[in-house]
Amino acid sequence: MIAFPSRIRRLVQERRPLAPLTTLRVGGAARYFVEANSLRDVADTLEACRAQGLPLRVLGGGSNVLIAERGVEGMVLSLAKMRRIATFGHKVHAQAGASLGALVTRCARAGIAGPEGLSGIPGSLGGALAMNAGGQYGEIADFVERVVWINPQGELQSLYREEIEFSYRRSQLSGGVVIEAILSGHLGEAGALLARASRITREKRARQPYSVLSAGCCFKNPKGNSAGRLIDLAGCKGMKVGDAMVSRLHGNFIVNRGGAGAGEILKLMRQVRARVFDHHGVKLEAELKIWPEESLTAA
Ligand code: FAD
Ligand code: EPU
Repeated sequence: MIAFPSRIRRLVQERRPLAPLTTLRVGGAARYFVEANSLRDVADTLEACRAQGLPLRVLGGGSNVLIAERGVEGMVLSLAKMRRIATFGHKVHAQAGASLGALVTRCARAGIAGPEGLSGIPGSLGGALAMNAGGQYGEIADFVERVVWINPQGELQSLYREEIEFSYRRSQLSGGVVIEAILSGHLGEAGALLARASRITREKRARQPYSVLSAGCCFKNPKGNSAGRLIDLAGCKGMKVGDAMVSRLHGNFIVNRGGAGAGEILKLMRQVRARVFDHHGVKLEAELKIWPEESLTAA
């Protein structure tokens, strides 16, 4: 084991299996893993990794990551224990590890309108900000007022919305560690917001597979089109590699029917991408964060 400073040594777990921390339930272990309880733990971990030249990745709710069977070298940092949420007026202040679902419900109950459009999206606030999560009812960037993060240079910063680059399923925040954020909606009526939240969740569950293991959409939508529709038209629904299968409900979801390994899911992603390219001449780009990144192109 690397000689971590005593402040964080007690927090460091070695060879921690990551599959249980992801919604696909596949993949190997993290060489080193820290579950931070505080900003201090996060800062100490970053500093120790920097000093050792150890690469660091942040894991949120694990609902958009696909981890290879060989696992992840370096450090994986989780903020799952940093999950406080507080509402005030038409704003909500939450830590990055808070569940997005819990945050959306708290907002609706407090009469904060807007975030209920994100109902049904799994994962954490930090992951949602890093991915700019969203859908037909808006994306999280629409509600951001301020984000506190540790930037890639290791500095703690508080950024206003205008200072943060967000685009479709992308944000500059994925390059650092989001610690907490203030989101701002407008004032609404709690009953109506809760009703809208459940309607949106129901609608999503009717169109997308929720009772099986997945990581949501595998590929980003090409401009002006839906990857799911292209995959469907290319006849990929129901394609299988082992226990990995292209969902029959929504073509852009690959589901793990129980026993799939990461390799099988990656192989199926490559097959789907090749078939869509043959049929439509469109190269799909992965939305899933694949750890390590080169696993999608490797055999
Ligand atoms: P993770 O999967 O853990 O990580 C994703 C990325 O965020 C990684 O690069 C990670 O390093 C980074 N990250 C996580 N936390 C932090 C942090 N604190 N600081 C910096 N970077 C961080 N997504 C949508 O956008 N719209 C949808 O409608 C949608 N529907 C889904 C439905 C299902 C059934 C599933 C399983 C997934 C769906 N997703 C959807 C995908 C996923 O839920 C979102 O991308 C979600 O925001 C990821 O959050 P997470 O906490 O799980 O992040
Ligand atoms: N469609 C098909 N076949 C399919 C899937 C979709 O023909 O198998 C058609 C639908 O009938 C519809 C169109 O494609 O006409 C768009 O479908 P949908 O409304 O399901 O939206 P999407 O573009 O496939 C996007 C996001 C989802 C988000 C939904 C709803 C991406 C990659 N996907 O899907 O986000 O939930 O809109 O807002 O942007 C995710 O990112 O993980 C995700 C699930």
